[in-house]
Order: sequence, then structure tokens, then C-alpha cells
Amino acid sequence: MLISKRILILICIGCFGFQMVGYATMKKKYVIGFSQVTTTEPWRLYFNKELRAEAEKYPEVQLIVRDGNDNIHKQIADLEDFIKMKVDVILISPKTAQEPTAVINKAYQAKIPVIVLDRDITNDQYTQFIGGDNKVIGKAAGQYIVNFLGGKGKAKGNIVEIWGGKLSTPAQDRHSGFYDLIKQEPGIKILGEGKDGDWKQDNAYEIMADAIEQFPKIDVVYAHNDPMAFGAYLAAKDMGLHHRIKFFGIDGIPIEGVRWVYDGILTATFLYKTPGDEGIRQAMRILNGKKVAKRISLPTMVIDKSNAGKILKQNGLIR
Ligand code: FRU
Repeated sequence: MLISKRILILICIGCFGFQMVGYATMKKKYVIGFSQVTTTEPWRLYFNKELRAEAEKYPEVQLIVRDGNDNIHKQIADLEDFIKMKVDVILISPKTAQEPTAVINKAYQAKIPVIVLDRDITNDQYTQFIGGDNKVIGKAAGQYIVNFLGGKGKAKGNIVEIWGGKLSTPAQDRHSGFYDLIKQEPGIKILGEGKDGDWKQDNAYEIMADAIEQFPKIDVVYAHNDPMAFGAYLAAKDMGLHHRIKFFGIDGIPIEGVRWVYDGILTATFLYKTPGDEGIRQAMRILNGKKVAKRISLPTMVIDKSNAGKILKQNGLIR
């Protein structure tokens, strides 16, 4: 008897809650659905935080954020849901390029505006792409490393490159931009096949531990993101080699890359700005009937010991 009374109370609370939610969503004019590849990395959390903060500025917007759990099939299913729900705009930052192309095209053909963020797909059947220019970033890293190893035509050194997910456009472009510069330098060697660390610190640790066993002299590690540069540093440190090798990454968020540069763990990192706030601003332009550019390229910059402290100060992380 007592149990059934409790159940009754719970059902009532449930109904009331449901009505409240119904009422809240009824008042919203627009629904934006966002599929985020993963939420396990600080860069992604930063991205979501900016996106949510921007969306809060528009009381007429209901934002639905789905975590892809680092699985493209989950992201494709979430997009199918968004299409069924007839959301007003879809935002997606996909794990890979090829697999989600069909569902993104399907949404676009169904006249749902789609904004692709950070990682591109294999065609441009979407409304807009927003992200950093990874070729430019790869080139900037290449240029920095060539200068660091002795300058154009004179540079000398052995590099281990640790790739992000090879099936994603940022990894492909970070490699090709970098390689364009490096291949002109006869004194620089990229050691072995570029191994795929899938953006993860732990994978990079293993890749670096193997590289140390295989190659007697490593001068530089170029990792496609900061967590992997840090993972490679930890592997070198465990083998007592961290003082002989210089580590370079990409992302430059204050609590990771900038801090690691400041602490002397990384020599430099390159800013890869999160596209969350711009994504919402552009979605609002679309919802308000304004034209939007097909591509928006976010700026980058080098972060090394000349400016890391200033950035940490600006972010309140040091005094
Ligand atoms: C986070 C991340 C970043 C990287 C970006 C590339 O998931 O791995 O570190 O810059 O994705 O898409």
C-alpha cells in the first residue's frame, strides 16, 4: 500500500515535470540540434561551453546537444533523429569525413540548414562550414620547426609525427600543410610511417614509446593536437629522454597547451579556435533569414614562451 502511494506521487511529479518541459519548449520558437563527436577532451568541453553560452543569449532558441560518444554511427543516428524531429538548424562536428556525408546531405536536401563545425565532410552539400584552416596551421608548424632546426635550407633533424584520426580532415590537412614545408628540407627526416593516435593522449604515449625503441635519435615530435604532444612527452620522460626532444602540438587552449608551453613541456602550440559560439551566431543569422558565407575560417596564432604567460594571465590562470 505504502509502495503504491509512492509510485502515485512519483507519477504525479512526473506528469507535472512533463507539463513544465512541454510548456517551456512550446514557448521556444526555434530548435537547434547539435551533434558533438565526444565530450571526453577539454577542447570539446570548451567548445560546448561556448556554444551553450552563446545559445543562452537567445531565449527563443531551444538547444539540443547530443554526445556522439566518439562513434560516428551514433552521430549518424542522432542526425536521423534531428531530421525526423524537423529541427530548424543542425550543427555537427563529426568524427570522420566520409561516413556522415550522406546523412548531412540528406538533411540539407530536406531543407534543414546544416552547419558543419571543425571537421569537414567529403562534399559541400551543406549550408556552411566553420573551422580553423588546418593546412595553414600545419604550414605554420612546419615553418616554426624548420626555423627551430636551423632555418630554411640548413635545418637538420629527425621528426616523429603523431597523427590525429586519419579519416578526419583536420589530421589530413595538418599533415599535408606541414609536409609541404618539411619536404623542401633535405636535412630533415620524418621517421617511419605516421602513426594514427586518434587524438588521444594514451595512444600517443604508446606510439612514442615504440618510436623511442625504434629510432636512436629523435629531435622533434610534431603531434596533431596538444593532448598527444603531452602523451609523447610523458613517454619520453618515463625513459629519461624528455630534455633531448622538443614537443609541438596544436589547439592552444589555456588549461592545456598554453599551460604546457608555459611550463616548458611543449616548445610551441598553434591555436585551433573552438567554433561553438560562431556556430550559434551563424545559425541565428540563418534563422533570421540572412545570407551566410559558405566557409568561415577561424584565425590561428603561434603560442610559445614569448606569449604563453600573457595568455595565462588574460585567462586568470596565473597572476
Ligand atoms: C578534440 C580534437 C582537438 C583537435 C580537434 C580536431 O576532439 O581532437 O584536439 O584539434 O579535435 O578535430
